[in-house]
Amino acid sequence: MATKTEDINELSNIISTSVKTYLSHVPAPPTLRPAPPVFVTHEVAIQAKEEILLACRRMISLVEGPFETAVGMGVAFMDTIAMKLAYDMKLAQNVPPDGSSISLAELAAKTGAPEETIVRVMRALTLKDVFVETAPGHFAHTGGSADITAMDPMIGHLTEESFSSGPHVSDVLRENNWAVPEDSRKTAFSRAYNTNKNYFEYVYSDNKPMGTRFGKAMQSMSNAGGPANIVALYTPLESAPKGTTLVDIGGGIGHVAVAAAQKFPNIKCVVQDIGMVVGEGRDGLPEELKGRVEFQENDFLKEQLIGGPGVYYYLRHILHDNPDPACRDILSHIVNVMDSSSRILIDESIVDERMGPDGDKFAVIMDLQMLVMCNSKERTEAQWAALLKSTDERLVVEKVWRGKRGGTGIVEARLA
Ligand SMILES: C[S@@+](CC[C@H](N)C(=O)[O-])C[C@H]1O[C@@H](n2cnc3c(N)ncnc32)[C@H](O)[C@@H]1O
Repeated sequence: MATKTEDINELSNIISTSVKTYLSHVPAPPTLRPAPPVFVTHEVAIQAKEEILLACRRMISLVEGPFETAVGMGVAFMDTIAMKLAYDMKLAQNVPPDGSSISLAELAAKTGAPEETIVRVMRALTLKDVFVETAPGHFAHTGGSADITAMDPMIGHLTEESFSSGPHVSDVLRENNWAVPEDSRKTAFSRAYNTNKNYFEYVYSDNKPMGTRFGKAMQSMSNAGGPANIVALYTPLESAPKGTTLVDIGGGIGHVAVAAAQKFPNIKCVVQDIGMVVGEGRDGLPEELKGRVEFQENDFLKEQLIGGPGVYYYLRHILHDNPDPACRDILSHIVNVMDSSSRILIDESIVDERMGPDGDKFAVIMDLQMLVMCNSKERTEAQWAALLKSTDERLVVEKVWRGKRGGTGIVEARLA
């Protein structure tokens, strides 16, 4: 394992062996050019990819040295500044999507930004292979810069409300003796935006464009990440009896429910949410699913409207938005209407207990994102089980369906 060694020769061997293994199990070698995403699904390739990344991270720590590592983390927000400027100046939208290049003068004319500003931003971005300078003063897309357009709503969410909330996190925690307040209305976000509302209450009433963008951000993340775990992993729905109900609690504009209804022809989906996302989802629903996917306005903190036997209650990226007491409220409303044949499906990160360079980078970043925006967290398998038990002694984990990619999965729970 790469984390066990500080020997750069050994690391270099690990990288070279893992690269060979990786290349022999993926359909095509990775490229920096804009190209449709290739999802790595082969177990061996996934393992090799992790080994490569891990060994490269350790190699960089060793070769760069402690100063670059520590100070580098201190200035990592400069990357966000460069990305924010690219987003706000619409650089990606003004570079030809077909991979050909554009001159600096043309880019300045199209964006209305001075050449000098563009050059400064491009220096930071091209350092990370986001855009490429094809000849002096000429720029073209890489996969990374093309993704700024594909992921536009997510980049906006991250570089605007998340970025401006981040600096407040220390004050929020310091005032609570460094414990995270179990209140989603007293967050770094609520401090940055001077509101007593939680993120969702705020964006669905005081800042609707931000709310619309958030719904699209969730959709763009789903598209980029490959099929949701309910579609990729949860095989019991393949043999579900006709008319089986899947309630997608906090399902946003219905992007996951639509994919689930397409994959499992016997199920019908009810997408529950609050705010204008319900109407936006209804408006965007594909014609052929109109009889099988419906939208319902429902506040999961207040009640669960759908009961009866055999119902699947699906919560994807819902409980990680909420501190434990609110999670217990959400789960107990389900418990009130479910029976022993119903299932709760929690589709979330299942955080690895390991520390160090082989930790799960995505889960670690998401955990801090949840802290900043919601005073909530990503949870380990033990924390999921404890949360269920503390909601209701009868609520037990039936099975954990682990995703192939990274530390995500579905925690399936039932009433004992
Ligand atoms: C992180 S998003 C997840 C969306 C979707 N499940 C997915 O996986 O992409 C959280 C969702 O919870 C919804 N939500 C927030 N508070 C809610 C509440 N009190 N009742 C119902 N839905 C809520 C938001 O509108 C948003 O769609």
